[in-house]
Amino acid sequence: MESARTPITPYPRGWFLVARSGELRPKQVKTVHYFGQDIVLYRTADGTAHAVDPFCPHLGAHLGHGGKIENDAIRCPFHGWTYDGASGACVHAPEASKTPRVSLRHWHVQEVSGMILVWYHEQGEAPAWRVPEMPEEEGRWTGWMESRWRLRACVQDVVENDIDVAHIPAMHGFSKKIPRVDFTTDGPMMRIDSTLRLELEQFGLWGAIEGPLITRKWGLTVGYIVFTSTLLGFPIGLRTLGNTTPIDEETVDLRLWYSVRRSPIRLLDPLIARQYRRFFDHTVNQDVKIWENKMYRLYPALSDADGPFVAYRRWATQFYSEDEMQRARARARVIG
Ligand code: FES
Ligand SMILES: [Fe+2]
Repeated sequence: MESARTPITPYPRGWFLVARSGELRPKQVKTVHYFGQDIVLYRTADGTAHAVDPFCPHLGAHLGHGGKIENDAIRCPFHGWTYDGASGACVHAPEASKTPRVSLRHWHVQEVSGMILVWYHEQGEAPAWRVPEMPEEEGRWTGWMESRWRLRACVQDVVENDIDVAHIPAMHGFSKKIPRVDFTTDGPMMRIDSTLRLELEQFGLWGAIEGPLITRKWGLTVGYIVFTSTLLGFPIGLRTLGNTTPIDEETVDLRLWYSVRRSPIRLLDPLIARQYRRFFDHTVNQDVKIWENKMYRLYPALSDADGPFVAYRRWATQFYSEDEMQRARARARVIG
């Protein structure tokens, strides 16, 4: 991207979702497209997920088109060279007197809480941290339901939605006032604590419910939001697990998974889950309209109603190299 619309790089550092765990069965090979390139995902027989660059070092066949899993390795469909899952090193070349000393570029992979994540670093450095299992919540919860968008935006613009509390009453309207937030960070993790007064007209009901809204993020992309409250004496719980992965320099893949706390009346659960999804999808659709058309202001004109935007951006700089931040500053001076 780094266009007139966006001075910052579309590819920050960190862990990014490339598939749900259930989308990659044992011995399956699957091609996905992120960071402007194909990435071949496969799961070896022992259940470990791997991600490699697609083109065989031999004569360049695409491993996602006919590659096969043999135990813990992937075999190229063209001449049968075979590459170790963990290291990417070639371990076998049929009838060659010596095994060629070549490797596939393999991505660092982490599988956690149903997410297959790859590590992106513009210089290829190894992961500096890991994403933990998502927190356990009290009570029993429904399974995740997914909504997904492919949109013209940059990761940074999408993730700043978390801290941009001023747009909630102005655009979404699910709270009539700007929520006050407490923003804390711990290395690559950030947490936003607030109290939300959620207007129930969004759900076709009267009144409002109030409770803690906690947003946590590991890196710029793995985001987890939980809202809890009570309605007519019953505990209510709504949660969203979100991921934003750059597809290429212009577009991102936004995947949100929703789940709600089970109610005492089991029959109601799918209804509550669907309503929550409808509500959240609606707010995201409002955001998408903005994201797809806005520019990214490196130097925004903020007011004191804007929440801790500056602290958030200071935290986010760890996901960009100093060189890239300098380039962004230079570009921002040109595009205003
Ligand atoms: S191109 Fe892969 S083995 Fe020849
Ligand atoms: Fe929003």
